[in-house]
Amino acid sequence: MALTEFLSQLDELAAAAQSAFSSAADAAAVEAARVEFLGAKSGRLKAVQKGLGSIPAADKPAAGQRFNAVKQQIEAALEAAQKRLAGTATQATAAGCDPTTPGTPLALGHLHPITQTIEELKDIMGRLGFSVAEGPEVEDEWHNFEALNIPAAHPARDPLENFYLTTASSGTAPTMLLRSQTSTVQIRVMEHTKPPVRIISLGRVYRPDTADATHYPMFHQIEGLLVDRQVTMADLKSVLRLFAASYLGHDVHIRFRPSFFPFTEPSVEVDMQWQDRWIEFGGAGMVDPHVLRAVGYDPDEVSGFAFGLGVERLCARRHHVTDIREFYKKDVRFLHQF
Ligand code: FA5
Repeated sequence: MALTEFLSQLDELAAAAQSAFSSAADAAAVEAARVEFLGAKSGRLKAVQKGLGSIPAADKPAAGQRFNAVKQQIEAALEAAQKRLAGTATQATAAGCDPTTPGTPLALGHLHPITQTIEELKDIMGRLGFSVAEGPEVEDEWHNFEALNIPAAHPARDPLENFYLTTASSGTAPTMLLRSQTSTVQIRVMEHTKPPVRIISLGRVYRPDTADATHYPMFHQIEGLLVDRQVTMADLKSVLRLFAASYLGHDVHIRFRPSFFPFTEPSVEVDMQWQDRWIEFGGAGMVDPHVLRAVGYDPDEVSGFAFGLGVERLCARRHHVTDIREFYKKDVRFLHQF
């Protein structure tokens, strides 16, 4: 190979290497350029070096000198590129941000077990054809008591049994309280809907109960109401059995115990047995004719059933939680299990 041809190959290589190293934007690009130009086995400098052997003996010293100079030039370009990128990283770190640091993993939150239970109960009852109704947590006495057949002298209205609210004393303002049961929503729905009615309502209720393993001053209830022609206790039991089997499993048993609620007649306590243990989950019964009349329904035309169950107790039973206070301790080690 003629000396001139060899030198021009070297010049071309030097220019290409210079441009590759100075335009490399990150460490990976610098490394790719290093392998391309200075790679020990198949780098381009190595390929050009092979031509050195065919240079006439008289021209060899000049060719060798120039080869070494270009090699040093390329190595210097590599070093400059490495320094340039290291400088950028240092500047970023000095500014309080190191883009090479791995990100902090985000801990994803999840729904509270009681919220999860509420969603699941809505789902189960939705499949049985019940739609969801809502009502206010701050209620008047008509919806919490009067319309539910609980007259003024009834012990359930005792100030010691309820969270009454002190409102601005205008004299005419109705007495308000935090609702003590979701049965209030039955009244609100029936006041504005003609039968047939098939709803559930889930939400918070408040009672000045002392907290223990099965009681809390704020808890949740699921209320169910079905009003139509010829509704019977058998329908009530069938719906509750389907509900319980969907939530706890097909090995659940339901038991009705005679009871009393002013707004249902007859009234029952609803117990469920699951995995050899009976638990009281709520109350139920046939909607009292007085209540039907109070909302403008004709008890000779329609009948209905209603039930109200404690959500904390359902959730606790299903997950083998022995104390419902655990749900409200905000202990993430406990809450993470759901
Ligand atoms: C009622 O509240 C009636 N409204 C239920 C009802 C609805 C009867 C419709 C008839 C027709 P009771 O006070 O028994 O009933 O409460 C129902 C359920 O709420 C209880 O069985 C229990 O599961 C739950 N519960 C009651 N008090 C508490 C409390 N302090 N903490 C947690 N759960 C409670």
